[in-house]
Amino acid sequence: MVWPVTTERDRSGRLVIGGVPVTALVEEYGTPLYIYDEATLRERADAYRRAFARHYPRARVVYAGKAYMATWLLPLLESAGLWLDVVSGGELYLAHRGGFPAERIVFHGNNKTPDELALALQLGIGEVVVDNHHELDLLERMVPADGPGLDVLLRVNPGIDAHTHAYRKTGIVDSKFGLLIESGDAARAVERIVGIPGLRLRGYHAHIGSQIVELEPFAATVDALFRFAAAMRDRFGVVPDQISPGGGFGIPYESGDPEAAIDAYAEAVARSALAAAERWGFAPPVLTVEPGRSIVGPAGVAVYRVGTIKDIPGVRRYVCVDGGMADNIRPALYGARYTAALANRTGEGEALVTIAGKYCESGDVLIKDIALPTLEPGDLIALPAAGAYCLAMASNYNLALRPAVVAVAGGEARLVQRRERYEDLLAREALLATPPRSD
Ligand code: LLP
Repeated sequence: MVWPVTTERDRSGRLVIGGVPVTALVEEYGTPLYIYDEATLRERADAYRRAFARHYPRARVVYAGKAYMATWLLPLLESAGLWLDVVSGGELYLAHRGGFPAERIVFHGNNKTPDELALALQLGIGEVVVDNHHELDLLERMVPADGPGLDVLLRVNPGIDAHTHAYRKTGIVDSKFGLLIESGDAARAVERIVGIPGLRLRGYHAHIGSQIVELEPFAATVDALFRFAAAMRDRFGVVPDQISPGGGFGIPYESGDPEAAIDAYAEAVARSALAAAERWGFAPPVLTVEPGRSIVGPAGVAVYRVGTIKDIPGVRRYVCVDGGMADNIRPALYGARYTAALANRTGEGEALVTIAGKYCESGDVLIKDIALPTLEPGDLIALPAAGAYCLAMASNYNLALRPAVVAVAGGEARLVQRRERYEDLLAREALLATPPRSD
C-alpha cells in the first residue's frame, strides 16, 4: 500500500487523508503542501515495536532523523519508545529544542566536527557511532578520562553489496563510511578505543544502504558483525553488548512494488542475530535497527497544483505543477519513481502524461509517463510515499519557498511547519539594509 492507511475518496470524489479532504487543506494552506497522516506514522512505529517484541525483545529501534526531522514528530517517536539517530549539529540541536531525551540520541556521521562533538557531549547524548580514526583523535582529547564516560559503537564496513542505487550503497569496500573489516582498519580502531579511558565500546554497527527490500543483505550484515565481534573478543577480550545492522529497509513507491513487511524484516534480522550469537558463543546482545524511510515515508503525501499543460504532438504531454525538484529531488537524483492521483475530483478518461516541476532544469521531472485522468489547470495532484527524503533534502533552488507541512488525524489538521515566506529568503543577507519599520 503506497497511500497512508486513512486514505479514501468522499462522495464527491475528493481525496481524503486522516479524515480531512485534501481540497480543504489546500484551501487553507496552499500548494505545494506536504500532508503527514498521524495514524500511519503511529502504525509504522508500532509495527517496529511489536515485530521486535515478538522476534527479539532486546531490540532498540532508532528512528533515522535524516529521513525527515521536525520538532512536532519528536513526541510521537518518543511515546512509541523509539530512539533517535542524528547526523549533524543541526539535527542534534533540533532534537534538543524539541525536547527529545538526550540519553536516547545516537550520533552518526563520517566527518563529525569538533563543534558537533562538543555539543553532543555537552547535551549528554546516549551514544556516538565512531566512524573513523580522526574522530577517535578528537574524542580522545575531548572526553575526560575521569568523567562519566561516553558509550560508543564502532561503525565498520563489512563489504556487502546490496541491491540499491549506487548513490545509496554504503557498505561496499569503496565507501566513505566506517572502517573496513577486511583491511584491518576496524580492528585497529577497536584496539584504540579500548585504550581510551573515557570511551566505553558497546558494540559494532554497519549500514549497507537504503531502500533495500531484500532481507538477505541485512542477515549477511548481522552475520558479518558477529564474526567481527568474535575476532575482537579473541584479540582484545572485548564482548559487545550491542550489534547494529543499521537502517535501510525499503518501502513501496508504486502500486506494483513489493510490500516490504516490517515483521518479516524484524524476523530475518532477529533470526540471524540469534543464530550468529549462538554460533559465536555470545549471549544475545541488544539488537539496534535504524529505520528512517520505512517509518515516515508511507505517512507523507505531497500535493501540487497543476498549472501549464504543454502538448508536444506525438512526443509528450507535460503537466507542470507548482513544486518539483526543490521539494523532491529524488526523481532527478536517483531516477526514483512515484505514482500520483488526481486529488480534487475523480476524472474521466486516461492519458499518459509527464508531471514536471517548475524549476529551471530539464531534469526537473517528478513522474515520467504516468496514466492519469484528463487534467486541467487548477487540478490537484497528490504523490504518495513522499514522507521520507523529500522535505529533508529540500532546497531553495530558484529561491523556491519550502512548502507548508500539515499533520492530519481524526478529521483534524494541524499546521506543523508553515510555508516559507519571501522574507525568509532575506534572513541571511548580511549586507542588506534593514527595511524601514512600518510602525
Ligand atoms: N542509519 C544510517 C547510518 C544511515 O546512513 C541511514 C540512511 C539510515 C540509518 C536510515 O536509512 P533508511 O531506513 O531511511 O533507508 N537520500 C536517499 C537515502 C539516503 C539514506 C542515507 N542514510 C534517498 O532519498 O533514497
